[in-house]
Amino acid sequence: MRFDIITIFPEMFASVFSGGVVRKALEKGVVRIAVHDLRDFTEDKHRQVDDRPFGGLEGMVLKPEPIFRAVEAVRQAEGTSRVYLLSPQGRPLDAALARELASQGQVVLVCGRYEGVDERVADHLVDGEISIGDYVLSGGELAAAVVVDAAARFVPGVVGKEDSVRNESFAGGILDFPQYTRPREFRGFKVPQVLFSGDHKKIERWRRKKALEKTVRRRPDLVAHRTLAPEDRRLLEETSNERKDE
Ligand code: ADE
Repeated sequence: MRFDIITIFPEMFASVFSGGVVRKALEKGVVRIAVHDLRDFTEDKHRQVDDRPFGGLEGMVLKPEPIFRAVEAVRQAEGTSRVYLLSPQGRPLDAALARELASQGQVVLVCGRYEGVDERVADHLVDGEISIGDYVLSGGELAAAVVVDAAARFVPGVVGKEDSVRNESFAGGILDFPQYTRPREFRGFKVPQVLFSGDHKKIERWRRKKALEKTVRRRPDLVAHRTLAPEDRRLLEETSNERKDE
């Protein structure tokens, strides 16, 4: 699949895509990323991308024309291509959205900047808006990098089997289980004994239980409207009984 990023700070992306999962995906050729400088789509001498807002407020707003031109230049066949504006007003990014994006042939990401983007971009150009959280970043660039990383993980061939199963588990709606490595004891803090048991069934059960426990404690919203499988309910009951015994 292919990502096209439209930005006034193209240089911001070089380092984030030069490591980790995205780099591997680029090397394998299963993901392609093109970063486009919005100023290349201006037609005036000063390559102006922003202007003062009508109605008189402080600050500058990104002009519509260069953004429309840029999107029209990079967008491939409709149908397999989606265009999104990164903005705090967008649909919150989660595993389901990341997976949806990964199933597209092309995703075009438009990075907002300054005090805003002319509303005609949101109303008449893009297919949707994406937010990475309820806070305001100084621009869409960091958000676009987050979207690319999260979506790339769902592109077939990007992460190994082992990892993708764990991805599934978050997409399935619960947090991850705790992980440990050597040493077995560090400053008196011990790795849970069950992990040395060699009993894979027991370990799997323990991991599921810890993941459920953590989810209920830290993110009750993730399980509030779900009916848990009987085995999961049993594991959680065990947990609350253990607490009563403490
Ligand atoms: N641009 C500014 N803030 C943002 C956010 N929270 N998510 C996506 N894009 C943004």
